Amino acid sequence: TDKQGYRHYMMKEIFFQPDAISKTLKGRITKDQVITKEFGESADLIFSKTECIKIVACGTSYHAGLIAAYWMEKVANIHCQVEIASEYRYRKSVILDNTLFVAVSQSGETADTLAALRTAKDAGYLSTLVICNVDESSLTRDSALCFLTHAGTEIGVASTKAFTSQLAVFALLALHIKKNNMQNIDYAKDTIFQSLFEMQQTMRRILKNSKKFEEVAHSLRDAKSIFYIGRGPMYPLALEGALKLKEITYKHCEGYAAGELKHGPLALIEDDIPVIALAPYDENFLKILSNIQEIKARNGKIILISDSKGVDKAKKYCDQTIVLPNTNFVTSAILYSLPVQLIAYHLAVLLGTDVDQPRNLAKSVTVE
Ligand code: G6P
Repeated sequence: TDKQGYRHYMMKEIFFQPDAISKTLKGRITKDQVITKEFGESADLIFSKTECIKIVACGTSYHAGLIAAYWMEKVANIHCQVEIASEYRYRKSVILDNTLFVAVSQSGETADTLAALRTAKDAGYLSTLVICNVDESSLTRDSALCFLTHAGTEIGVASTKAFTSQLAVFALLALHIKKNNMQNIDYAKDTIFQSLFEMQQTMRRILKNSKKFEEVAHSLRDAKSIFYIGRGPMYPLALEGALKLKEITYKHCEGYAAGELKHGPLALIEDDIPVIALAPYDENFLKILSNIQEIKARNGKIILISDSKGVDKAKKYCDQTIVLPNTNFVTSAILYSLPVQLIAYHLAVLLGTDVDQPRNLAKSVTVE
């Protein structure tokens, strides 16, 4: 738990992510299968019966859940709904048949998530599953099933490696539940398995060129406010990018679904409100490209994070570009997390905030 030469825990934890992911995946996948021995046979019965998933969490873990919902519906063909724990626990909700309740928490001690799980236990769900980084936590003790993320202790208040490990676990869950679901579509299964296998190396490659993220942070220094935009799984990652900036730089930042810009935020666009677009070259790319053009037409400043194909197509509209490796529907959100985290980190360092212990925030929120 020392900083091992890094200036901050957060930086150490960002750079530990290739190893954290490999620990998360270790022993849990072959080249075309998810191994679920650790859950026992009763879990497989539950997974095979699952027709809906309800995910409940707070903060960064909630964003992991939102990303997972895109995967569950597309990859596993399973209905998935995500909710903030502090909302879920105080409202009446209708439970569809054979719904698996999934609570997500880095610490396993978040008061609202724990209360939500306790409410869910007697509410008629098929079963309860906790995705957690801490074995022997209140949440793991209270849940029927538990999927540990094995990311190692996280000290920086802003969650980084715990988040990407949660995503890796959700990817496994989507691939596994899909296997047991007779009506599912065969969405690029081989590509996803292959890219999970290569995840550690791909993350290392991105982190090696982290200088570029520092340059972006410099360009954001005087921004009045910042927008992150994305479509598909990049939309919840945009929310996470905005949360990271708020948490550690204290700058106002909003994450937006790119298609919603025209319903309000376009009115705010001016040259000191930069927009960071998370846009891998995928089925959403041409749509987000037209959003980028709309922003440019209003003198907005665009920072594009994409792959080489996306950057080639869009660079004439962008002020800065970052090229990431090619990804797919599942791994994009994991890999695009790295620039999002590093931009926030470098900007916080430039602004001189307390990166590991931001004002007014706590690592584990055990009270309401
Ligand atoms: C706090 C932390 C966040 C975290 C959230 C949920 O607000 O500062 O980083 O995402 O709690 O925590 P959990 O442990 O449940 O994931």
